Amino acid sequence: MKINQVEFIISAVQPSQYPKDGLPEIALAGRSNVGKSSLINKLCNRKNIARTSQKPGKTQTLNYYKINDKFYFVDVPGYGYAKVSKKEKQAWGRMLETYFTTNKQLKAVIQIVDLRHPPSNDDQQMYEFLKYYEIPTIIVATKADKIPKGKLQKHQKIVKEVLNIEPNDPITLFSAHSGFGKDELWRTISQYL
Ligand code: GTP
Ligand code: MG
Repeated sequence: MKINQVEFIISAVQPSQYPKDGLPEIALAGRSNVGKSSLINKLCNRKNIARTSQKPGKTQTLNYYKINDKFYFVDVPGYGYAKVSKKEKQAWGRMLETYFTTNKQLKAVIQIVDLRHPPSNDDQQMYEFLKYYEIPTIIVATKADKIPKGKLQKHQKIVKEVLNIEPNDPITLFSAHSGFGKDELWRTISQYL
């Protein structure tokens, strides 16, 4: 996809703040620090429109980025960050449950996992949650630049097996550093818009 315009719109914490223009939304879900914000930047050819950090927990609100006046990427706070209090975790869970289950503009969720490791329990629960609510899911296994080429398929197979990915859900290997998988991912995203 040719990116002409990327505009940060709002950091939302409650439904009254979600944009009301009816544009389709694609949300990013994944463990804290897995590379959600980096993926948005890479897809949009921007260095730092979605703020990234080496410290987990950088993204704390639903951040809306309007792309080409056509749709939104919604950067979602990461899960599985140990240093967050129980209370904060509950608030996070409620915010995301509301967003994922009530938002009619949500066309698909890109669930990002780390290709280097088998998906965690949190990753498995996230995927099960999305499937329970019948939300179309695109799996992206990122940080592929850290895996030798000859081992990519083996790692992909582990991701598929551990998450128990449904046959119709696409999976893309990706690297926000090298851009590997970017064109394939754009083709997949376009099918949901
Ligand atoms: P939170 O907002 O805290 O949930 O994190 P996030 O999922 O948005 O992660 P972010 O994009 O901030 O990236 C976290 C770290 O991983 C940064 O140091 C990135 O440079 C690094 N990173 C992200 N994508 C890749 C990738 O494809 N390859 C490699 N090697 N590192 C990556
Ligand atoms: Mg982030």
